[in-house]
Amino acid sequence: MSKLTGTIASVNMTTNLILQRPSTTVVLAMSTDGKIADVKRSPARFASEADQAHLERQVALADGVLFGAGTLRAYGTTMSVSTPQLLEQRQQQGKPSQPVQIVCSASAKIDPELRFFRQSVPRWLLTTTTGAEYWQKQAKETFFERILVSNATVGVINWTEALQQLATLGLKRVAVLGGGTLVAALLASDLIDEFWLTVCPLVLGGTSAPTPVEGSGFLEHQARRLQLLSAQTVGQEVFLHYRLQPR
Ligand SMILES: NC(=O)c1ccc[n+]([C@@H]2O[C@H](COP(=O)([O-])OP(=O)(O)OC[C@H]3O[C@@H](n4cnc5c(N)ncnc54)[C@H](OP(=O)(O)O)[C@@H]3O)[C@@H](O)[C@H]2O)c1
Repeated sequence: MSKLTGTIASVNMTTNLILQRPSTTVVLAMSTDGKIADVKRSPARFASEADQAHLERQVALADGVLFGAGTLRAYGTTMSVSTPQLLEQRQQQGKPSQPVQIVCSASAKIDPELRFFRQSVPRWLLTTTTGAEYWQKQAKETFFERILVSNATVGVINWTEALQQLATLGLKRVAVLGGGTLVAALLASDLIDEFWLTVCPLVLGGTSAPTPVEGSGFLEHQARRLQLLSAQTVGQEVFLHYRLQPR
């Protein structure tokens, strides 16, 4: 179980400002050869019921669930909390029954017909100025309770600022549910604290099949090092829990 419970405070060495952000935990299932989906980028349905329960537990611990538009386009839905014990646990902790589901998309080109928009969950969109304008023109306001805008350069989200916005809105703990493009962007900005990876017993292969971390990659000497917190075998799957080591 993660020890991270509150917002993370760090000092920006350039400005000396204290930055607050939620703690972040990536939760992904992958094949034994390290793929999170097949070459067609199909929704990953290869994990067991035990992994689904693990994912739901991680979602239930979070104030917000963050995922990329690619993941939403692949699945069409999101993981909500439905197990009575987990709903009760959230109630006892004074949390709303569902964490807020935050979709990140620079373009905001998201199909409003997706079943996600009929799920009984709070939804926020994290996007750029262009994306916000696009979405507001073509979709109903009610689809997202809140639209957060954060630009770095044109068409790219400023993740440090975006996570600060989430902290300001009261989110202390965020579960990052993929995909690899989003995880790479957060990792490149040093904004990931923990990884949960479930190794599943199948081989997907394929040079272009997605992996937990996409982007342009890190040279070995620059790669972030992890500390293994736990490794648990359940049936044919291995649940690995890592914390990022400080640089
Ligand atoms: N096995 C698992 O546990 C698991 C979990 C999740 C996903 N997956 C798989 O992963 C695949 C999807 O992953 P993916 O890497 O293609 O997509 P992704 O990371 O889910 O989403 C990528 C999209 O998110 C937005 N985005 C991400 N980073 C951004 C940034 N820094 N700035 C602005 N926008 C950003 C962009 O949206 P716009 O294009 O709209 O601008 C981008 O195209 C699917 O095949 C899915 O099945 C597997």
